[in-house]
Amino acid sequence: MSKITWKGSVLLGPIPPVLVSCGTPEKPNVFTVAWAGIINTHPPRVSISVRPSRHSYGLIQQSGEFVINLPTTALARAVDWCGVKSGRDVDKFAAMGLTALPASAVGCPLVGESPVNLECRVFQQIPLGTHDLFLADVAAVNVDEALLDEAGKLHLEKAGLLAYAHGQYYSLGQALGTFGWSVRKKAPEPAKAPKPGKPPRRPAPPAGGKAHPEKKARPGRKAGPVTGHKTARKGAKRPG
Ligand SMILES: Cc1cc2nc3c(=O)[nH]c(=O)nc-3n(C[C@H](O)[C@H](O)[C@H](O)COP(=O)(O)O)c2cc1C
Repeated sequence: MSKITWKGSVLLGPIPPVLVSCGTPEKPNVFTVAWAGIINTHPPRVSISVRPSRHSYGLIQQSGEFVINLPTTALARAVDWCGVKSGRDVDKFAAMGLTALPASAVGCPLVGESPVNLECRVFQQIPLGTHDLFLADVAAVNVDEALLDEAGKLHLEKAGLLAYAHGQYYSLGQALGTFGWSVRKKAPEPAKAPKPGKPPRRPAPPAGGKAHPEKKARPGRKAGPVTGHKTARKGAKRPG
């Protein structure tokens, strides 16, 4: 790979272009923030970088609260629109048909159409240059019940999350593996084909049935991704 070197820039991607809601239930506002991140696990803490010129900057500074609403592909237009229009001039919730729902731990509303909402309380504000960094505790998380299975496990992969890289919006692509799959033991060799005349060891899936569709979609199953964390070897700790 041959490289050319540029001066420093924030060429980092993909990142989530989150919808940040703020303001009050009576006068809610929402704007798009791509400079958002996780900064600590316990206690759960996140950050957003906001230019002082944004209308939302004053609202967040005043209340010390905001909500990070994860964006989906269905919200892509709203994400872009809320990132180019100001709450000084327009009610963005109304214009985009977004529902301002009451939050449980903060006074500002959350975006009902977003599958995951992080209710945040600012504990520090750091001016950095063009942007101020708001560091915040995540006081509560709201999750769309439709993304939970019977055991209460979250299936975020079903949310259709939106990504942003170098000025472009993307839907997420094919799942390549779960955390730690690179160091997990190889899956056992598939059973050999039965000798002629002998019945197969496992019954064939019913005709037209969707038996293990996800297995079919997973590439390189033999030496590649394997789901589940139980078999992860030591050393494959989750980051953070
Ligand atoms: C994809 C995208 C990402 C953005 N990321 C940020 C950001 O991280 N910080 C920021 O201050 N503005 C960001 N903006 C710009 C604001 O969302 C935009 O200026 C918005 O109109 C501010 O709304 P407000 O005046 O109602 O607060 C982004 C815009 C887009 C479209």
